[in-house]
Amino acid sequence: METALGQRQGLPADLLYLSEKHPRGTWRGRSELAGAGETWLGSHDYFRAITAKISENLVRLRERGETAYDSGAAFRRHSGSLLGGLEGHHGIEDDHYFPMFRRVEPRLIRGFDILNADHEMIHAAIYDFSARSRDFLSRIGSSEGVMNSDQRRATDEMAETAARFTAILRQHLGDEEDIVIPLIIEQARDDPEFG
Ligand SMILES: [Fe+2]
Ligand SMILES: [Fe+2]
Repeated sequence: METALGQRQGLPADLLYLSEKHPRGTWRGRSELAGAGETWLGSHDYFRAITAKISENLVRLRERGETAYDSGAAFRRHSGSLLGGLEGHHGIEDDHYFPMFRRVEPRLIRGFDILNADHEMIHAAIYDFSARSRDFLSRIGSSEGVMNSDQRRATDEMAETAARFTAILRQHLGDEEDIVIPLIIEQARDDPEFG
């Protein structure tokens, strides 16, 4: 079965025994998630929101056909926040949470192998996104007014990169939640200090 991000159709069934017990629809507001779980979901919601905003702004810019004084600056701000936030978030997962989860739930080790591999793929995509962003920003410039053909092309290319990035990121966030959140619920029951 294909497990690579962007290729797989969901997680292997044998990794979903906890999420069958605690399905997605039952998470919000649960006391077991009051600490680490809610923080985790909050970070993921932020990444979903900021990627959607970046894509919407690019589509709007393309439709309007005109740059505004802050077109480039807003893009730089949002993408900097997304990429920097993701690097920090993945660092904590890779260095702290995943090693701990591997110890407490060895049956999910393969799941954490998949999620660690996702992180590597996302990091390659972050690199690509950053390079494309620099190119986009230099072509879009800082002047206001009707876009020329190269600025329109640059916006299309950036929008495609952002859409590709968003698709793999969303798949990772969803699959990670299906493994991690039910595990936090189980662990927090046994040990309220967990997380
Ligand atoms: Fe992750
Ligand atoms: Fe995450």
